[in-house]
Amino acid sequence: MNIFAHRGSSGTHPENTLAAFKDAATLPIYGVEFDVHLTKDGEIVVIHDEEIDRTANGTGFVKDLTLEQLKQYDFGSTFSEQFKGEPIPTLEEVLQVYLHTDHCLNVELKSDVIDYDGLEKKVLALINTYNLADRVVISSFNHEAIKRVKALQPTIKTAPLFLNNMVAEPLQYVEKLDAVAIHTSEKLIDQIDVAAMNSTGRSVRVYTVNHIEQVKPLEALGVEAIFTDYPEKMLRTIATT
Ligand code: G3P
Ligand code: MG
Repeated sequence: MNIFAHRGSSGTHPENTLAAFKDAATLPIYGVEFDVHLTKDGEIVVIHDEEIDRTANGTGFVKDLTLEQLKQYDFGSTFSEQFKGEPIPTLEEVLQVYLHTDHCLNVELKSDVIDYDGLEKKVLALINTYNLADRVVISSFNHEAIKRVKALQPTIKTAPLFLNNMVAEPLQYVEKLDAVAIHTSEKLIDQIDVAAMNSTGRSVRVYTVNHIEQVKPLEALGVEAIFTDYPEKMLRTIATT
């Protein structure tokens, strides 16, 4: 079973910060997942929500703040005083953490609430600047964004995300998108024929798996990877079972 660190090592570090990514980079796990948005001045930043309110000591939408303004806020203290002063990272800063590792980089385009103009193109340009295309998989709940990514760069790996509802024919859907995998919440797993998906060379990956008891049943179904906030704990668990 492969492991993705969800928002970096977000169970032990502030989510989507360099502290969380540097920790994940030291682990012999398959990959890391993170979420991207566009700032007011068109910079790609790594943060989960459209607004900074939950994770920073400030308020406002990412789309209404410049990178310079966003960099003034503290994204560490809401998690723990130990991480006071952790800034919001840019996508470029996160990619730089992984330049000399072999982790798969799952860039989640957070364009399902705000469909950021030009996000796909900017993300691909940066990935290509660092020659990371082979190690990247781009996912999104916005499947139109996934199609745009594929149209811009047909060889890039993609995966549609699902949260509350599954499509009627997941395998055909993924084949039509020419995606390498389906990334789904655990509650929808019963609606996917994992074995059939695997037989076509495509994978099923499940989020967010933080409890040890969740792993074995998913493994038995043939799930290829999990996204977890506790990659180190999961690594130890999987290694010893
Ligand atoms: O990509 C898997 C997972 O991150 C999707 O949900 O809300 O944690 O971004 P969310
Ligand atoms: Mg995500």
